[in-house]
Amino acid sequence: MVLFCSWSQLPVSMPQMIEPETVLMTQPTSRPRIIAIANQKGGVGKTTTAVNLATALAANEMRVLLVDIDAQGNASTGLDIDKDSEKPTVYDLLAAEMTATDAIVRTIVPGLDLIPASMHLAGAELELLEADNREYRLSESLKSIGDTYDYVLIDCPPALGLLTLNALCAADSVLVPLQCEFYALEGLSHLVRTIERIRQNLNPSLEIQGVVLTMFDRRNNLSDMVASDVREHFGDKVYETVIPRNVRISEAPSYGKPVLLYDWRCAGSKAYIHLAGEILKREREHRA
Ligand SMILES: Nc1ncnc2c1ncn2[C@@H]1O[C@H](COP(=O)(O)OP(=O)(O)O)[C@@H](O)[C@H]1O
Ligand SMILES: [Mg+2]
Repeated sequence: MVLFCSWSQLPVSMPQMIEPETVLMTQPTSRPRIIAIANQKGGVGKTTTAVNLATALAANEMRVLLVDIDAQGNASTGLDIDKDSEKPTVYDLLAAEMTATDAIVRTIVPGLDLIPASMHLAGAELELLEADNREYRLSESLKSIGDTYDYVLIDCPPALGLLTLNALCAADSVLVPLQCEFYALEGLSHLVRTIERIRQNLNPSLEIQGVVLTMFDRRNNLSDMVASDVREHFGDKVYETVIPRNVRISEAPSYGKPVLLYDWRCAGSKAYIHLAGEILKREREHRA
């Protein structure tokens, strides 16, 4: 279902919401920047961040590919793509039977394409165990996209198994959504140690892109305490943008839409537009 064919048909031109200078200077030149969205905990906002950040980047005239490697396929259904169709999926890439370009589908968001998940991914962890080159299957298959995209975002499953490992071996960096709750820091330390080990053994150029605080509730003191703890430990790796707990964000997937298309005025949409702006700005500084 195509709702509109370009951002200019939306009631507001989203690119104008971010400084034009930021957009122009962050256009990558040759290969895409690949960002894995990972956290071994479930329900912390990985998929929500993947779908809405991808949409906000596309609204900034970036060419974006979202790869859904979670068997639950929430990023696929959240973009109105059937994860159980007979069409090629990310599973075929991991089985080394296809390249990424064979599995790309367009989404309702202009400028955003998707490689859908498949329920077969549930068995992929075991199947890959015996496979050769098992950590680099996704990385190899993504080479086929060349310079077609500026950003590739990978929505990871809630575990540090072979699927997430494939994402982290394909990625330039990891973006960590962190829910402001009691055990958040403990889980984050574990993830950081894992990233360090991957950097030493499998992907030397892997960096931490940043940590984004999600489902922040201003009325809850714990949210504030966790946020200041995380900022103390991780300093400027933590984005200034905080994603608030917002009911429109949680409603949007049931309509098969990112929140930016469901209700672009709500606090959740504004937060993801801000996050995209912050990421693009940091990318520009990084390149400089
Ligand atoms: N900022 C938010 N405000 C309200 N609900 C949210 C927010 N972010 C995520 N959710 C909801 O929380 C649940 C888990 O989010 P999800 O992105 O699927 O997490 P994960 O991919 O890490 O498992 C989903 O039902 C989602 O709609
Ligand atoms: Mg998810």
